[in-house]
Amino acid sequence: KKLVCGVDLGGTKINTGIMDSDGNILYNVKVPTEADKGPQHVINNIKKSIIDSLKNTKLEIDQIAGIGIGAPGPLNADSGVVECPPNLPGWIDIHLVDILKQEFNTEIKLNNDANAAALAEHLFGAGQGIDDMVYVTVSTGIGGGAIIGGKLYNGANSNAAEIGHHSINFDGPRWCNCGNPGCLESYASGTSLVKFAKKYIESGRDTILKNIPMDELKAENIFDAAKSGDELALKLIENEAFYLGVGIVNIMAFYNPKRIIIGGGLSSQWDVLYDKMMKTVKDRALKPNREICDVVKAKLGGDVGLIGAAALVL
Ligand code: BGC
Ligand code: NA
Ligand code: ZN
Repeated sequence: KKLVCGVDLGGTKINTGIMDSDGNILYNVKVPTEADKGPQHVINNIKKSIIDSLKNTKLEIDQIAGIGIGAPGPLNADSGVVECPPNLPGWIDIHLVDILKQEFNTEIKLNNDANAAALAEHLFGAGQGIDDMVYVTVSTGIGGGAIIGGKLYNGANSNAAEIGHHSINFDGPRWCNCGNPGCLESYASGTSLVKFAKKYIESGRDTILKNIPMDELKAENIFDAAKSGDELALKLIENEAFYLGVGIVNIMAFYNPKRIIIGGGLSSQWDVLYDKMMKTVKDRALKPNREICDVVKAKLGGDVGLIGAAALVL
């Protein structure tokens, strides 16, 4: 059995660990990304977490087959460069693979976080045996990864399925860091859900969410408020499910997948979102594309990114 190291570089945390070739995680550690402190600091956090993972599994660098990294894009998997991810401030053309190679003498692979997660779900999760599938992550950002004909589809420079940045409204909000108005990410990510809530609260809407300090408001609070019947929260969740539905409709048209797998923080609210989301899909998606495709929750949970990153090396 091969052993590999996986690094899931997220906007808020880094999840690093050692995995075997059957997808079992032998050890993993989560550390805060501290993205606001800039790329150099984040890279040091990555290095420390790799060293920690090797130490705790008593492995030397030459006993692992390599290190795989999943990072927010856009990036270039071939050159190992992270180019300009909207959710990692200050990261412009960072030669991540070269930098890590100076420290770790092993094969190092980089790919988009959602591409990696798609691979993970395909190999070990809800996409096993499904040759045409799209993975969607809904968290700080929205990302996608497509498996086409049983293979991860990277596109010309590894940025295929950047579905968070397809516009669903040309006059929509301009708060996406990619600069485009009305990105799906600007409507349906966890971050956007909170942004919409704040907008309503600032305009004087009555809601129990007012009791939470604005800079502490999280998507979770909005789901909780909706459960207790708060009108604004219910409306926000209704919209969230609708926007996700629109995203799925478009994915069905673009890729004609057999399965769409949804992961990321917001997928933990599956029971709240599913029916509403699927109503939009039923109303709007092309019939043959909709009928062949099911939409399911990811199976691998919070470690999907790590497993996918490690799988890049296998
Ligand atoms: C990035 C994607 C990434 C997603 C989730 C988006 O903003 O453009 O590359 O997959 O966030 O992290
Ligand atoms: Na992607
Ligand atoms: Zn965007």
